[in-house]
Amino acid sequence: MKALCWEGVNELAVERVPDPQIINAQDAIVKVSLSTTCGSDLHLLGGYVPAMRAGDVIGHEFVGEIVEVGSEVRRHQVGDRVVVCSIIGCGRCWHCEHDMWSLCENSNTTPGITDMLWGGDTAGIFGYSHAMGGYRGSHAEYIRVPYVDYGAFAVPHGVDDMNALFASDSAPTGWMGADLGGVRPGDVVAVWGCGAVGQMAARASTLLGAARVIAIDRYPERMAMTERHVGAETIDYTRTDVVAELKERTGGRGPDVCIEAVGLEADSPGPQKVYDKAKQRMGLEQDRPIAVREAIYACRKGGSVFILGVFTGLVDKFPLGAMMNKGLTVRGAQQHGHRYIPKLLDLMDKGELRAAHLATHTMSLDDGPRGYDMFKNKKDGCVRAVFRPWA
Ligand SMILES: NC(=O)c1ccc[n+]([C@@H]2O[C@H](COP(=O)([O-])OP(=O)(O)OC[C@H]3O[C@@H](n4cnc5c(N)ncnc54)[C@H](O)[C@@H]3O)[C@@H](O)[C@H]2O)c1
Ligand SMILES: [Zn+2]
Ligand SMILES: [Zn+2]
Repeated sequence: MKALCWEGVNELAVERVPDPQIINAQDAIVKVSLSTTCGSDLHLLGGYVPAMRAGDVIGHEFVGEIVEVGSEVRRHQVGDRVVVCSIIGCGRCWHCEHDMWSLCENSNTTPGITDMLWGGDTAGIFGYSHAMGGYRGSHAEYIRVPYVDYGAFAVPHGVDDMNALFASDSAPTGWMGADLGGVRPGDVVAVWGCGAVGQMAARASTLLGAARVIAIDRYPERMAMTERHVGAETIDYTRTDVVAELKERTGGRGPDVCIEAVGLEADSPGPQKVYDKAKQRMGLEQDRPIAVREAIYACRKGGSVFILGVFTGLVDKFPLGAMMNKGLTVRGAQQHGHRYIPKLLDLMDKGELRAAHLATHTMSLDDGPRGYDMFKNKKDGCVRAVFRPWA
């Protein structure tokens, strides 16, 4: 079959790879209808995530149809239209049973790397390096889905593929940020990043009752989209001091909840980016935590910061003193999608949550390398490139 493969840092190619087979009794094979780029793929492309190998099929946010099931699959059958969570969870370990699916103890078949890096192994993720199980990704005609009874969700008739697609990863990620960030009715929420994840976090905050949501980015078309589709106010971080502006807009107090949806390749118009990039290059820190620092300084005393952006290792100039003395709660996680996807599909069915606008560019899988170039470099207002493997 055809698939989009990582071939090296900033190098992708469409190749022929073997068709996936059922390996375990709880597997299914899904024929991929739509598969989208994600900010996390940019970290793989940029060479920031360890244990990628030439020929790895990338992609983890997708919707499709079940075409084959293993002998122990109970909740799904051939022909089901499903959205599949980007994170793989076994459904039976302690962490899955406690709704912390990205911490699954069984789905990462190569747990040694994350265990060594972080003192605890994390779940398997589709198309996301050999540190996360080495699973083949969704930018392909077919994909093997392990533990399909837990990870795949039937899409309601009223939800089209283009909306359902984002219930795989960006919508549950955004929802988790607002939920575990502790958004309460009446709160002011600030969200760093107007990509798909930031927009979904902003929308989730509103649906959970936030009185105001303020989103931060630099790209006018992303900010305009966030204002129009999500109803958030925006701040352009290249034009103003974000921390001062957030304090100004909140009567000096700062937002109650700050959600970071930028990640390890954060940008900054000031010297921070030069400093962090130099340290990253020399291996003195792994990630650029520019938006995390800002969130901690901006957050109101006693408030909470949730880190949705992906980070891999050690960072420098982390404002621990501000965090401690201001009494902040700082959390982060890879998304626990299984916990939120049914609710999100229901909200989509009712028309309360829409995500299809994120798909600014749709193309065939053959155009994969071009799609990633547009997405990475924000060309032509690209928010997400979506591939149709069967087009
Ligand atoms: N936790 C999870 O499970 C999970 C799931 C999906 C994605 N992610 C991560 O979330 C992050 C965002 O993903 P995405 O798909 O929306 O990516 P994206 O690249 O489309 O969006 C990131 C946005 O951040 C903006 N940005 C850069 N520096 C900034 C700064 N200093 N302040 C404010 N905005 C800034 C960029 O302009 C861009 O619009 C990535 O790090 C991705 O890896 C995490
Ligand atoms: Zn993702
Ligand atoms: Zn598990």
